[in-house]
Amino acid sequence: MSGSGTANDSVGSNGSESGRQRYAHIVGWGMAVPDRVVTNQELAQIVDTTDEWIRSRTGIEQRRVAVDPRETSATLGAKAARAALAVADLPAHRVDLVICATSSPEHIFPSTASLIQDALGALHAGAFDLSAACSGFVYAISLAASMIVCGQADNVLVVGAETLSRLVDWSDRNTCVLFGDGAGAVLMQSSAVPGGVLSTVLGSDGSGGDLLIIPAGGSRQPATLETVASGQHFVKMDGKAVFRFATRVMADATRQVLDKAGVSVDDVDLVIPHQANERIIRSSMKALNLPDEKVYINLQSYGNTSTASIPIALCEAIAQGRLRPNDNLVMVGFGAGLTWAASAIRWATPGARQAPAWRAGQRSATYSLARVRSRLLNYSRKVESSLVTEGDSISTSLAERIEGWRRYRNGR
Ligand code: ACO
Repeated sequence: MSGSGTANDSVGSNGSESGRQRYAHIVGWGMAVPDRVVTNQELAQIVDTTDEWIRSRTGIEQRRVAVDPRETSATLGAKAARAALAVADLPAHRVDLVICATSSPEHIFPSTASLIQDALGALHAGAFDLSAACSGFVYAISLAASMIVCGQADNVLVVGAETLSRLVDWSDRNTCVLFGDGAGAVLMQSSAVPGGVLSTVLGSDGSGGDLLIIPAGGSRQPATLETVASGQHFVKMDGKAVFRFATRVMADATRQVLDKAGVSVDDVDLVIPHQANERIIRSSMKALNLPDEKVYINLQSYGNTSTASIPIALCEAIAQGRLRPNDNLVMVGFGAGLTWAASAIRWATPGARQAPAWRAGQRSATYSLARVRSRLLNYSRKVESSLVTEGDSISTSLAERIEGWRRYRNGR
């Protein structure tokens, strides 16, 4: 298991101008799930399963499914991100970086993060996807904290967004009962207040890559009529092997991250584990002697939403008053790869910031403008390329005007 730098390591040469120590805090949070609830009973009508089997083996009672094709990983992610920005009362143009952890990206490229950045109108943000399956959100927290602590970024949006229902074989009872759709996001911000992300642990064991895999559709096995006909573009899983791996690694990673942070298991106030299977969570937390009341579980309502499961659970835990200032929080996840990740956080955000009421209207106007801007830019690119290929003098001068406008917009 390899460890990433802790967020309270000394600030590097890119640190703040004042030379003050920088800490990475979660200051905004938000979630978005599709409206459609799919119960276990409904699944029992399409595959050979029962509500009793799913509940007793996994703890799941229902999940959300994006039935509207216009609802995608990016739209859910953008909705969650907007909610996080509203809690932090931060305009999108002040975001420096958007990291989207996802196991169901909209495309191989462009990144889902870029689509979210565009939907937010986060004009000054870089954006990229992070692929570490269900561990991805905690990987992204680690990366965002490092960027903040070393002074590369002040405001980082970390999003976990999924529409795994579109990558699941709805005739395979081994997998289709497990997953759900949704998104969660946090805004991480630099602060001089001690606390925030104290330590992170990241791990990978690629020798188990075949245990949980979407075999086709990538460059190794490009999509063909045969791969589609044989369902190779769907999730395949060796459930028992993943179960054994997960139970061991969740406890190990939690122990390691607490050691790095200098926090004892007894001093942990809340663990938010990846919400895959209640039996995995209970047995790994039992190995740590952590009582049930210190573990947050909401998989009964959403199933396994992969990268979104931890931020969705975080939002609900906050809404239920389960986190108070100075609490020690652990987020821990595992997933395909195989991967695992944990983060220890000293919670220092008292709650949603009180923004004036008019700000909600301002925010929604800004997002409408972002939509218009995106369409105009897209359209201007198409006009530009059609004019430039014709190559006459009128089209050249129009193309120059578009280029001039673009330079003006970029402030150059
Ligand atoms: N309904 C009824 N029976 C089922 C179902 C179902 N939905 N699914 C499997 N079964 C059957 C199996 O076919 C098997 O039948 P058999 O004995 O005749 O072959 C029987 O139930 C028992 O199967 P097991 O594999 O022993 O069941 P287990 O108790 O291990 O539970 C489960 C299966 C829930 C999949 C469990 O192994 C698990 O949760 N594993 C971890 C999976 C996971 O967390 N994956 C996500 C990782 S995160 C990411 O990166 C996406």
